[in-house]
Amino acid sequence: MTGKHAEQPQRLHHLLTLAGLPQALLVALLERAAELRVAPGEPLRRHDLLSGKTVVNLFFEPSTRTRASFELAARRLGAEVLTLDMAFSSTVKGESPLDTFYTLQAMNTDLFVVRHREPGVLQTLAQHALPQVHVVSAGEGSVSHPTQGLLDVFTIRRHKQKFDGLAVAIVGDVRHSRVARSAVQALRTLGTRDIRYAGPAELLPEDLDGERFTNPDKAIAGADVVMMLRIQKERMQAGLIPDEHEYFRRYGLDAARLKLAKRDAIVMHPGPMNRGVEIAPEVADGPQSVIREQVTNGVAVRMAVLATLLQK
Ligand code: CP
Repeated sequence: MTGKHAEQPQRLHHLLTLAGLPQALLVALLERAAELRVAPGEPLRRHDLLSGKTVVNLFFEPSTRTRASFELAARRLGAEVLTLDMAFSSTVKGESPLDTFYTLQAMNTDLFVVRHREPGVLQTLAQHALPQVHVVSAGEGSVSHPTQGLLDVFTIRRHKQKFDGLAVAIVGDVRHSRVARSAVQALRTLGTRDIRYAGPAELLPEDLDGERFTNPDKAIAGADVVMMLRIQKERMQAGLIPDEHEYFRRYGLDAARLKLAKRDAIVMHPGPMNRGVEIAPEVADGPQSVIREQVTNGVAVRMAVLATLLQK
């Protein structure tokens, strides 16, 4: 949330990162999400908490889960929602993200959900926001994905009821993962100390604290949570990884490898998944997988973020 944590520790205005977010604020968001969560099959509750507010989705990078869940979250809280179709926007004529933002801000809008591949663009938009306008990150390059981090810890809390004493293994392309960075920031704030990273040496992070393994079996052994990540080909140079079959053999999560974790370990993946590359279908769809539950929880967490920012 940029430097505003320090200035206003108990009041969120923008949500750009989980780094430095006070524990009390993080827990309050998780608790609000728990109140708002509706399981698949349960009747939806419609709210008018955000009646009269307009939420704009600006996704300069592709998305399925984040974009759809922010849109549903805003609608279920009673807000008006505008999701700009970037392929048919003036972005393709060369309009900058800031001019796009100024244009839509001039239409009396209240909150922008933004995804952009370039680090720093979201901070620039937040700096140029009118005082009453909020900016929420939906993913910033490899830097951060705060609402994904929130939904990940929300999901872990539902299954483990605690954070201290947990062993969390994050396996795959950790180096390029904004998901991993935000999840680790939230886990550290909530008290998780044992965080392990595994993957090819070239894809291990340099900027995250925790144990690093090139042998995933060592990271997964005894873990309570196994978080698998996809290879982000769009963010890496060609030739950094072996072919997909070889990658799966060396780093992929199959049933045999999962047996190394605790018997009640949960398997997470932020999506989109590459079945047969980082995760076997029988694990992705198996009894320890909470991958689809993460998606359900994402709507609740995004409702909590929107309601917290927009409600006076
Ligand atoms: N987890 C995630 O950010 O997925 P999308 O790219 O589909 O939004």
